[in-house]
Amino acid sequence: MQTINQLDALRHHISALRVAKGRVALVPTMGALHDGHMALVAAARRHADAVVVSIFVNPAQFGAHEDLDAYPRTMERDAELLRAAGVDILWAPPAHIVYPPGFATQLHVDGPSNGYCGAARPGHFDGVALVVAKLFNQVQPDVAFFGEKDFQQLAVIRQMARDLDFALEILGVPIVRDADGLALSSRNAYLTANERAAALALPIALGQAAAKIRAGDDVARTLAAAKADILAAGFARVDYVALADAVTLEELHMFDGRPARLLAAAKIGKTRLIDNLAI
Ligand code: PAJ
Repeated sequence: MQTINQLDALRHHISALRVAKGRVALVPTMGALHDGHMALVAAARRHADAVVVSIFVNPAQFGAHEDLDAYPRTMERDAELLRAAGVDILWAPPAHIVYPPGFATQLHVDGPSNGYCGAARPGHFDGVALVVAKLFNQVQPDVAFFGEKDFQQLAVIRQMARDLDFALEILGVPIVRDADGLALSSRNAYLTANERAAALALPIALGQAAAKIRAGDDVARTLAAAKADILAAGFARVDYVALADAVTLEELHMFDGRPARLLAAAKIGKTRLIDNLAI
């Protein structure tokens, strides 16, 4: 595995890799890697001949009062994991290469970025779309992998890639969970032991709500009950528990049989967790 931090070196190595191996996959990450990220890497290895993983904690997607400085950074350990997983290139650019002095471009994706986390974190998906568009241009992959853990992010990136004519395939990978059901997240590292135990209320509430909605229960009443359960377990705030069209993310007030997704975000202590479930 080559670890690269300069754009010209990246381009050079990727051209060589494409000739030597063939189809190139990209797995964008912010590091602090866990089994969720590694599932994307494994999917990338299955679907392509060469795998590039990027690690970049993207300042543009953090709000002014969010955890950019505190975000876990474990580069050496991450590099070891990626090397052992058979990754070809680790692209780890410094911030001044991604956003050089004088950088002036912004990107706003309407549609799927409205509502849910887009409402709770203004500007967040603009920053995600911007860095992912840049990563697509830098690496020029044939295929890129994103987790369904960040379901709205995946929808925003699909929209952005379609709108901007990126000629690549985007594949979603199912959520990887801890043995007890909590979705893996780099932010789980912030949880105290008590918070970690209480956090389980989030996937449990979603599972119960999904079963009720499938059984035909009233959607508004079911979502309100899920929200109450999450708060009762000790969460400080629920940003949303919502039922959405799985493709457009349009909010649904009744379940009409089309592919739908239960989406939730809630804060426990200082940590904001998200989760979702297919209906
Ligand atoms: P990060 O949170 O590091 O996640 C990188 C990728 O791993 C995302 O596609 C995310 O959905 C996926 N992922 C995280 N936890 C997962 C889990 N438990 N199961 C399956 N997939 C999981 O998402 C980002 O970084 C950034 O916004 C990024 C796309 C890299 C742009 O900066």
